[in-house]
Amino acid sequence: MADPASISCEHLTYSYPGAAPALSGITLEVRAGEYVGVVGPNGGGKSTLVRLLNGLLVADSGHVRVAGFDPAAEPFEVRRRAGVLFQNPDNGLVAPFVEDDVAFGLENLGVERVEMRERVREAIRSVGLTGYERREPHTLSGGEKQRVALAGLLAVGPEILLLDEPTAMLDPAGRGEVLGRVRELRGSRTVLHVTHHLEELFDADRVLVLNGGRLVAAAAPEALFSDADLLRENRLVLPTVPRLASDLGLPFCRTPEELAAAVERRSRDNSGVEAR
Ligand SMILES: Nc1ncnc2c1ncn2[C@@H]1O[C@H](COP(=O)(O)OP(=O)(O)O)[C@@H](O)[C@H]1O
Ligand SMILES: [Mg+2]
Repeated sequence: MADPASISCEHLTYSYPGAAPALSGITLEVRAGEYVGVVGPNGGGKSTLVRLLNGLLVADSGHVRVAGFDPAAEPFEVRRRAGVLFQNPDNGLVAPFVEDDVAFGLENLGVERVEMRERVREAIRSVGLTGYERREPHTLSGGEKQRVALAGLLAVGPEILLLDEPTAMLDPAGRGEVLGRVRELRGSRTVLHVTHHLEELFDADRVLVLNGGRLVAAAAPEALFSDADLLRENRLVLPTVPRLASDLGLPFCRTPEELAAAVERRSRDNSGVEAR
C-alpha cells in the first residue's frame, strides 16, 4: 500500500563538512496530493532540505521517507518518484534537441522505444511545447527551458515534485508559463515548492518557514502571511496588495479586487457605527 505521507522527516539534521548545521531537528510531513510552499531567508536551509529529500545529501541524523523510501539508501527508487526542478534551467538541459532532453530520464530507466516516444510526446504536450521537439534548448527562453526541464520530470511520471526556486531566473512571462503548468498538476501530485515569491504560494495548502536551519513556522498561507512579526523576523516581503491590506489593518487580501471589497466593507461598517 502507498504510504499516506508522501514526504516525512523526523529530527532531520545535516551539516556541510566543517560548517554549522544547515538543518537542525526538522520534523515535517507532507501528505499525498498536498501543495506545500517553503520560504525563508537565503541560507535558511531550503535547498539542503531538497537535496536530502532526493538523496543528493545524506542526513547526519534523523529519519527521511520519500514515497515510502529512504533517499539515502535507495536514491534511484526515490528519484523515479520524486523529480526536482532546480533554479537554473540551463543546468538540467544537456541534449541537442528538446525531445532528447525530455527523453533523458526515461533512457536512464531503460524504458523501451515505443513507450518512450509516447511518454515524451505527452510530456511535451502537457507543458505546452508541442512543435518544439526539434528545437535546440539553447535557443529557448528561460520559461521555455524550465518547461522542457519540467517535461523531462513528468515523462518519468513522479508522484512528487520538488521545486527549488524554479522561477527565480525567469522574467515575469516565463514565471507565469512555468507556474501555470505547475498549477495544472495540483492535486494529481504532491508538490513541495521553494520560492521567494510569496504570491506563488497564496493558494498553497500550507507554507513552511525555514530560517537558520530550523522549521520556525508551518501554517496556512492566510495565517502566515498576515503575521507581520513572523514576516519581518524571517525577512519575508509580501507583494504590494497584501502589504497594503496589512498596513490598512485589513484582513489578508490576494488581489486588488479583494482589497477593494475589504476597503468597501470597512467603510460600510464604519458608517453603520456612526449612524447609530
Ligand atoms: N555546498 C555547500 N557547502 C557548504 N555549505 C553550504 C553548501 N550549500 C549550502 N551551504 C550552507 O548551508 C546553509 C543552508 O544553505 P541552503 O540550503 O542553500 O539555504 P537556502 O536554499 O535556504 O538559501 C547556509 O548556511 C549555506 O551557506
Ligand atoms: Mg536555495
